[in-house]
Amino acid sequence: MSAAASAHVAAALRSGIGAPADVAAFAARTAAFDAVVLDAVAEGFDTVVSLGAGLDDRAGRLPLPPSLCWLDIDRPEVLATRSASAVAHQPFLEALDVTDGPALADLLRRFLGRGSHRALVLSEGLLPYLTTSEVEALARVLLAAPGFARWAVSWCTPPVTAAVRALFDCHGEGFGCDDPRATFEAMGFRVVSQLPFLDPSGGLLVLEPATASPVHHAL
Ligand SMILES: C[S@@+](CC[C@H](N)C(=O)[O-])C[C@H]1O[C@@H](n2cnc3c(N)ncnc32)[C@H](O)[C@@H]1O
Repeated sequence: MSAAASAHVAAALRSGIGAPADVAAFAARTAAFDAVVLDAVAEGFDTVVSLGAGLDDRAGRLPLPPSLCWLDIDRPEVLATRSASAVAHQPFLEALDVTDGPALADLLRRFLGRGSHRALVLSEGLLPYLTTSEVEALARVLLAAPGFARWAVSWCTPPVTAAVRALFDCHGEGFGCDDPRATFEAMGFRVVSQLPFLDPSGGLLVLEPATASPVHHAL
């Protein structure tokens, strides 16, 4: 982690000291994702795509270069509740169900396919809402997307996933894993770094395609 990103995480964690454990865990998760974005920008990434962005204001909150392209994706009913804030860096918003693989692949082709991009994809808090086969399908779409270079993904264990889904009245079994490294390696990624924030029940993985050259998986 770069010095700027470390300082950002340290400040966020200091501000969370004394908060209830779950609030502190969310503050740590947010700070960890912030740090991944700041590091990627420092490395020259020019695009961020946030899947299941919700009401997150990261694009406006972080000190980002004006040239950075930022796309927030969530369900239509969620994005409809977002109002334009007076921030310097306005993200593009796209209402889409990320489990619609062909629609997501088409969107990423349109957003990333012109020119040469180096894209970081974020999915913070999204995966418990998806089933295992939906996460595997999402991974295939990302690996096939032009310019896709890195995926920062928060994961949690099956019991935590079940608790999250119960809280939001989601039926059926969502994606959870006990061995995130093996799970995402089996989907075609290599683990670049891991940041614990819910240790040992969850954390953040920074993933890159296991193969160096662009791969085009069948969708
Ligand atoms: C826990 S919230 C996380 C929001 C934000 N990333 C954050 O960390 O503050 C999960 C988000 O995923 C979105 N989501 C869940 N399933 C989705 C789907 N199939 N397609 C698009 N967004 C989805 C929800 O609408 C919600 O905004």
